[in-house]
Parts: sequence; C-alpha cells; structure tokens
Amino acid sequence: MTSDNLSGRKLYEKIGSPKTVLAPMVDHSELAWRVLSRRYGAELCFTPMFHARLFATDEKYRKKMWGDMDGDPEKDRPLVVQFCANDPDYLLQAAKLVEDRCDAVDLNLGCPQGIARKGHYGAFLMDDWDLVYKLINKLHKNLKCAVTAKIRVYDDWEKSLEYAKMVLSAGAQFITIHGRTRDMKGQKTGLANWNILRYLRDNLPKDQVFFANGNILYPSDLKRCTDEVNCDAVMSAEGNLYNPGVFWTKDNDKEKQFPRVDKLLREYFEIVKECSGEASRVAMKSHFFKLMYEFLNVHKELRPIIGRTSVSAPFEEWEKIVQQVEEIVAKIYEKEDIEKLDQITDGPTEAWGGHYKKVPYWRCQPYFRTVNGEKQNMRELEVAASNKRKNEIEEEDRKKVKVSAA
Ligand SMILES: Cc1cc2nc3c(=O)[nH]c(=O)nc-3n(C[C@H](O)[C@H](O)[C@H](O)COP(=O)(O)O)c2cc1C
Repeated sequence: MTSDNLSGRKLYEKIGSPKTVLAPMVDHSELAWRVLSRRYGAELCFTPMFHARLFATDEKYRKKMWGDMDGDPEKDRPLVVQFCANDPDYLLQAAKLVEDRCDAVDLNLGCPQGIARKGHYGAFLMDDWDLVYKLINKLHKNLKCAVTAKIRVYDDWEKSLEYAKMVLSAGAQFITIHGRTRDMKGQKTGLANWNILRYLRDNLPKDQVFFANGNILYPSDLKRCTDEVNCDAVMSAEGNLYNPGVFWTKDNDKEKQFPRVDKLLREYFEIVKECSGEASRVAMKSHFFKLMYEFLNVHKELRPIIGRTSVSAPFEEWEKIVQQVEEIVAKIYEKEDIEKLDQITDGPTEAWGGHYKKVPYWRCQPYFRTVNGEKQNMRELEVAASNKRKNEIEEEDRKKVKVSAA
C-alpha cells in the first residue's frame, strides 16, 4: 500500500461512511445511472465491471467505458471502479489509469457467467486462490488508492470464511459479500443467505469494512439486512435497476421510494443528455425497459416502440417516447378516485421475515423473476449455503452423541 492510501475503516469514514451502495453492473451502473441513483439515496457507487486487459491496452474500449465525466469530484464520487482480471500486471496497468479519479479499485470475484468461466475471471477465480491473492496484492502494493474485492460464498461456511480472510490478507480494504454461491444464476438465482453473511461478519476482524449484497426489494429491507448481518452498508443491483428509490430511507416519501415512472423517466432522460461518454447513451434503452417493467406489462403498445428505437437514435426520438409516457400517466392522474388507486399497501409477513407490497403499476417497483411460469420470491426458494450448513450441524451433533455414548 502506498503512503497516501488509508486503512479500510479510515477510508470508509473519509468517504462519508456510506450505508447504501449501488452495485457494479455491466452496462447498467454507468455514469448517468449513478447520477440518478445518488439523487435517490445511493451513498457510494460502483462502476460496471471493466475488462482490465482491454482497458489497459485498447484505447477505443477504454474511451467507451470511461469518459471525461466519470469519477468527476463534484458529480461522481465516492466511486469504486471495478475490474475483472486474471493477470496482475494488466490489472495494475488498468487500475493506474483510474487511480486519481476514484476512491478505490475493486476486483470482481463474483461474475458467474459462461464468459467469465471461459476467460478465467470473476467467480471462477474461487478455484485459484493463489491468483486471487496475487491480483489483490499487486494493487495493494502499487496503487495510490485502495483496493477492495467483491466475492460470492461457497456452500461451505468455513471455506467461505477462509476465502474471505485470504482476500483480506492480500490487502483488500473493503469486502463486499454477495450471499449467493457461484451456481446461483439465471433460473437458479434463488435467495442470498444473510445468515452466512452474519457468520462471516462475526468471524472477520471487528474493524473490517463489510458490505452485504443480495435480496433487497424495498427500502425497508436495507435496515433489516443491516441489522441481521451487522454490516456497514448494503449493496443492491436488481432492486435499484427496477426502482432507484430502493435506496431512499431519509423518510417515507412515496415519490422518492416508489417514484412515478413518468417523472423518473423524465429525470433520468435529462441526466443522460447531460452526460458525456458513450456508456450512458448505450445503456439508456435497457434502463427504459427496466424502469417501466410493470408499466409496460399494462401499456404493451410502448414495448415495440422502445424496442425499435436505436440506442444511437437522436434524442428527439427518445423524447417522443418520454412524452408518450408522460401523457399516459397524466391521464391516470385525472381519474376521480386516483387518491385511492395510488396507494402502496403491505401484504402479510412472509416466511423470510419481510412482506411484499402492492405498488400501482405506474410507479417503479421490484421485479420478480419468473421461473417455470411462477414468480420468484413468491414461494419458497433455494437459499444459498443453507443445506450444507444444516448437514454439517447435524453431522456435528451426531459426532457429539457418539462421543458421549463412548
Ligand atoms: C445487469 C447486472 C449486471 C451485473 N454486473 C456485475 C458486474 O459488472 N460486476 C459484479 O461484481 N457484479 C455484477 N452483477 C451482480 C450484482 O452486482 C449483484 O452482486 C447481484 O445482482 C446480487 O445483488 P441483487 O440481489 O441486489 O441483485 C450484475 C447484476 C446485474 C443484475
């Protein structure tokens, strides 16, 4: 670690002790989205994962991913820049290019996709601890800013703990733990396990800066997660994509926690127009679809219009879509009984300790992935690293019985 670097806890305090963290998301946590998310309560943001070798060697790739405004001290801090890598030299070369415009550089150890398997990075480095150590340590020893890491868990709790300890011993200053295993993706995403996160938190040094990731649907889940895991901050990805208001905890203002799609779309669109750089522009179409997910299930006529509008179409074309949404929602608010219709209500308490909410379709709300025709989270789902631990406890109990019987 170089001299102007700070220890994890001091750095955390220096950047304002953030409690809410926008997750790194390929093609989705780019500058414009970060600006919007910060307005709705994200206190720390991660960039999308950048490919370290390409970032270091391919200027075209770098310019596409990292524009003049990224990391701007006024608009885009605190910021963690995330890379995937499997070569310490390329990683350092890439990180050096951003070290003056961010607060930390993060190593992605969580990506479970086929492309990461093929490229030997992300969660597939969980099989190569030696390389993980070298990657983190290289940055720790040579970078001006801090290095951090984002990991997944194994089914085995002890192994997860040893892994986290190794990552920290290499020099990671903050650790983010996504409470799902590497196999939990796509149809098998299931639920993150906050119990294993609590176990890891309790068994790592008390002063360790610890971010929990997984299962955030509503603003109220942030406190539940913080209390259950005893973490410093909570990171959200999908919850934020479908509703940036998920980070709003200052009060219960529904305009902030479950914003109207017309207002949010307009606000986001105006931000994109002000953001230089290709990434914000390219990501806009996907964000339109996600922000309006429920709304488009009702106003299906808008889907093909957005679908056929090119990401590089002039802003005037996108303006027409935004206006169309504004007109539709304006009509909804002309209804006589709108006050009654515009309520957000709680459902019963579920087995997982929280409850689902009924949110009007013209407001941003969480997305429930459909698996085999059923909405996920609406039924019992596989919980990461739960069976393994249960089996281990049973085995330990069996051994104890044997010993006492002997
Ligand atoms: C669209 C999308 C892109 C993602 N890209 C990245 C990434 O670049 N780096 C990373 O570490 N995780 C990435 N993830 C994983 C998230 O950061 C997060 O760990 C995961 O979605 C679990 O959090 P959630 O339950 O709040 O969604 C991505 C997730 C989504 C939905």
